[in-house]
Amino acid sequence: MSWAFLTRANSERDLIDELGSSFKPRQAAEGLVSAEARPKRHDGHLAELAFARQAMKVAGTAPTDPPRLMKALASALADHEPKRAREGTWTWALQVVAPDGNDPLDPRRKVAAAIEEALEAQLADALPASVQARRVGDAEADRLLQVWVGTPDKAWIGLTAGTQVQSRVAGGKTKLKRPADAVSRSGLKLEEAIGWIGLGPDKGDLCADLGAAPGGWTQVAVGRGATVIAVDPAKMKVELPKKRFVHAQQSAFEYVPAETLDWVICDMAWRPIEVAQLLAKWGNRVWARQLIANFKLPMTQKAAILRQVLRILEDGGWRGLRARQLFHDRDEVTVFGWLDPGLAVLGPKPPFEFRSRAKQTAEGPKKAPRPRKEPRGRGGRATGRGDGPRGRSGGRSSPRGGPRKGGRGGRAR
Ligand SMILES: C[S@@+](CC[C@H](N)C(=O)[O-])C[C@H]1O[C@@H](n2cnc3c(N)ncnc32)[C@H](O)[C@@H]1O
Repeated sequence: MSWAFLTRANSERDLIDELGSSFKPRQAAEGLVSAEARPKRHDGHLAELAFARQAMKVAGTAPTDPPRLMKALASALADHEPKRAREGTWTWALQVVAPDGNDPLDPRRKVAAAIEEALEAQLADALPASVQARRVGDAEADRLLQVWVGTPDKAWIGLTAGTQVQSRVAGGKTKLKRPADAVSRSGLKLEEAIGWIGLGPDKGDLCADLGAAPGGWTQVAVGRGATVIAVDPAKMKVELPKKRFVHAQQSAFEYVPAETLDWVICDMAWRPIEVAQLLAKWGNRVWARQLIANFKLPMTQKAAILRQVLRILEDGGWRGLRARQLFHDRDEVTVFGWLDPGLAVLGPKPPFEFRSRAKQTAEGPKKAPRPRKEPRGRGGRATGRGDGPRGRSGGRSSPRGGPRKGGRGGRAR
């Protein structure tokens, strides 16, 4: 069973490099890469591919003239029907996509629009009676019935499980609209990342934003209810409530948080390997529990550098690492990771105030931390696994044992 992938125009090479030669990947068309198989993770699940926007388990190719294409799609649905007993009543959604291209007048777009119109009007009638499956929306379908117009004459078709497509959005393009008050376009990258991960700085969370200026990411995180320490030598250009935001006007390579934070988010315009090393330090020292970082990859060997970045982060203790070149990313890749919730944290935590250790050494702390009533079992600094306090939530983790959602139960800061 072969696979096909949509990618950004000009990123085909990156995806081919990422897949690796053993899967025999090749550029099938502009914005479209095919491969004989797809890499798996250590646990046997399909690996997420950073440079693929969407994936398709290829059922075949078909001419793009609607009657013949319709026949091929009907037979793909009918072929799947016997497996229904195993899956129960199943549902499908139709997606017709013209892959990404450089030509603003790419003829594949017109062909895709014509196909979509014809299929919307006639596909239901063309299905054999054996097909009992219901058609539903993209977000809820068990399977996506995919039509990718690789060339004006030839479409790739597939019926792929919703869990295997990488994105349920047609073409994998999550287009977000820049809010009127957004200080930069960059905020969209964080918003898209949060949608992709399903998790992000939230109400009550404490978050460091490395490379924060002019303030788009900070704005998004504060807008979601987090308190943000924005670290950047450059000027911030956002007006935000003082209680929820502070600017540490210094290099992120010098900044040291005073306690374990819920998140470190990072959009620093700096060399990716050095940024990865910095974030590995954040992991090793348990300075933050969860990570969203955007790595700038202007070089040609993006996949190789990304592999190196991920290795460095993993050595830094970051787990569950995922990487994607998101729609709003340019020559960049966004990475998510989390730390083992059992790791020791820095604490106990005083009410929020901006304290950089580097600053404290130079000037001494502004005021002694006010002693705070700790719930039972939250004594002094934790020294290891199972040794008293384990994070802001006392070691609570998500049900999957993965990243923790939400903050500290609404503790006022
Ligand atoms: C792409 S901009 C960040 C945009 C920001 N995320 C936003 O949404 O507005 C990159 C930023 O990285 C910052 N930067 C570069 N080197 C840095 C360093 N060593 N420490 C902190 N920030 C740095 C730059 O000053 C610049 O403001």
